[in-house]
Amino acid sequence: MTDSALVTGASRGIGLGIARRLAERGYGLTITARDRTRLDQVAAGLRDAGATDVVVVAADMADPEASHALVAAHEEHFGSLRALILNAGVGTAGSIGEFPMRRFDKTVAVNLTAPFALLQRALPLLRKGAEENPGRGAKVVAVSSITGVYAEANLAVYGATKAALLSLVETLNAEESGSGISATAIAPGYVDTDMSEWTKDRIPADTMLTVNDVVELVDAVLRLSDRAVLSKMVLSRAGASGYGA
Ligand SMILES: NC(=O)c1ccc[n+]([C@@H]2O[C@H](COP(=O)([O-])OP(=O)(O)OC[C@H]3O[C@@H](n4cnc5c(N)ncnc54)[C@H](OP(=O)(O)O)[C@@H]3O)[C@@H](O)[C@H]2O)c1
Repeated sequence: MTDSALVTGASRGIGLGIARRLAERGYGLTITARDRTRLDQVAAGLRDAGATDVVVVAADMADPEASHALVAAHEEHFGSLRALILNAGVGTAGSIGEFPMRRFDKTVAVNLTAPFALLQRALPLLRKGAEENPGRGAKVVAVSSITGVYAEANLAVYGATKAALLSLVETLNAEESGSGISATAIAPGYVDTDMSEWTKDRIPADTMLTVNDVVELVDAVLRLSDRAVLSKMVLSRAGASGYGA
């Protein structure tokens, strides 16, 4: 039986790093992001890296239909799901007083509504994945942020969506971990990717966390037994206070 995983935001940054590691582990993968051309290139690389099969679905996570299309495509190819990686997200900064409501809606749609909708639709497939993997279970990993744990000025909306993911993960564990589905939220400080580009003049890229730091945690979580629940991991940058991005 081949393990399969669905990874959102898999075309760049942290999501690409996770998809690569899962390919090396022989997973079958459904990958998604908006840019289809880039996803097709990534898919070829993942096949070369060892993925048994790669399904590409180009979708905007702000689109309410996206979760349906994604889960349907994954089900058609793989029939069950061992790992759901809720990684896609948008970063937005701005003070509460000035934050445009349109940007609020978009951020909430991509960072919170989409992961919830995807999780809800994927639950039947995760339950099958758990049944097929006695002792290992099925896993959900949400890429949250340290700003969802420790609030930071000018990151109210981003931080609130990431805090909501932490809560969602804990609720999923309360509801489903006894049946073999457990979830983990990883809450990193700044990681050296495109998303953190805007702040690299203040925080040099070579002091940021690496994509591989996050990938190692995901890899370990997926190897835990179904007796273990690890709801939250906070990963901070060396040299920083430990309580901020
Ligand atoms: N980098 C950091 O400092 C940092 C720190 C803590 C947490 N995080 C979290 O880690 C996750 C990944 O971040 P990253 O740094 O790897 O970001 P990134 O390098 O900007 O990559 C984002 C990925 O998500 C996709 N994506 C973006 N908007 C999307 C949308 N509306 N619909 C579908 N896909 C979308 C992108 O592809 P397309 O553009 O083609 O859609 C890309 O594959 C995010 O949830 C982020 O909040 C990042």
